Amino acid sequence: MSNLETLQTEFAKTFGTLPERILRAPGRVNLIGEHTDYNDGFVLPMAIDREMFIAARRRDDQLVRMVALDFDSQRSEFSLDVPIECDDANRWSNYVRGVAWALRRRGIVLPGLDLAIQGNVPVGSGLSSSAALEVCAATTFQTFAQFEMSKINLARMCQQAENEFVGVQSGIMDQFISTLAHAGHALLIDCRDLSYENAPLPRGATIVVCDTMKRRGLVDSEYNTRRAECEQAARQLGVKALRDASLERLAQFENKMPRNVVRRARHIITENARVLQAVAAARQNDLVAFGKLMNESHASLKNDYAVSCAELDTMVEIARAQRGCLGARLTGAGFGGCTVNLVYADAVDAFVAGVAREYHARVRIAPQIYICRAMDGASVVK
Ligand code: GLA
Repeated sequence: MSNLETLQTEFAKTFGTLPERILRAPGRVNLIGEHTDYNDGFVLPMAIDREMFIAARRRDDQLVRMVALDFDSQRSEFSLDVPIECDDANRWSNYVRGVAWALRRRGIVLPGLDLAIQGNVPVGSGLSSSAALEVCAATTFQTFAQFEMSKINLARMCQQAENEFVGVQSGIMDQFISTLAHAGHALLIDCRDLSYENAPLPRGATIVVCDTMKRRGLVDSEYNTRRAECEQAARQLGVKALRDASLERLAQFENKMPRNVVRRARHIITENARVLQAVAAARQNDLVAFGKLMNESHASLKNDYAVSCAELDTMVEIARAQRGCLGARLTGAGFGGCTVNLVYADAVDAFVAGVAREYHARVRIAPQIYICRAMDGASVVK
């Protein structure tokens, strides 16, 4: 049975009827541009063929009932008649609740719904399963409530759900790419004005994602610390955001700034430049230049931004030792999760086998490895 058939069958088992609609929203991998989004900078993510699905049916009342097929069919429900609260026992449901909360704050009237949720974006590995669920929930509510909202505003609304309802201070990248991606492309996003353009993927090479299987423990507190350090750097450099700073300006002020703040700023300044260089390299199909920028990004994230960890560094080192690997870096917030690798297409099979073998030999954990295709943003499946 296909995944969608399972989803429909499980929906029927739980709620007694078939769903009316099925919606999807993809996870993402960021090719380059890490921690730049909340500094008004540039990012270059692509949506991947790892997605969240929601099967949905309208109800006659104001209840939203949910079942999470990937979490032992746990159930959670809330009423649209009263203020929407978090469910600490079923935290997966807070992404749906948060989206309903953010939509209602905009005065949008929502119908009650029965929802079955299932996905194949690994949870907690930095491929944005939470943003995918938010965007999938938003697309579901929009399909049933038929309200007008641009894709950009939909992404922003989902970010607000994550920041203010779930309570995680993420930037806009994940929700944006899950909403606005175009199949076969990466997306260059200017996180200051939210303008964006499709960027070609390097031809003749494949994007391979390697999951270290190290779950991202420290990520929330350290993420917030990095954000605060960046804001401090921008203040001390006298710029609106680090997007506006240069290495020359940093050199002028660095004696008056704490050492760690200087390093954080240096990562953001150099990383923003690397994103634009990577897009230029992709346009010329200069695979070697693109891979080199990925390697430099990892070094900067490790040494200046201090968001890598032993498992990520080991994974990157093993990947680079394989034939046909053009570049390897950590992707997402860091502190565990996944690396992204650019690999010559004809070397992918050997790369996957070599990395799996070597990582297991050194870390004693079998990694998950995904060969990724670039997908469209969220859509109605049926
Ligand atoms: C997480 C956040 C994004 C972004 C990345 C780091 O994925 O959700 O907004 O800041 O980390 O690039």
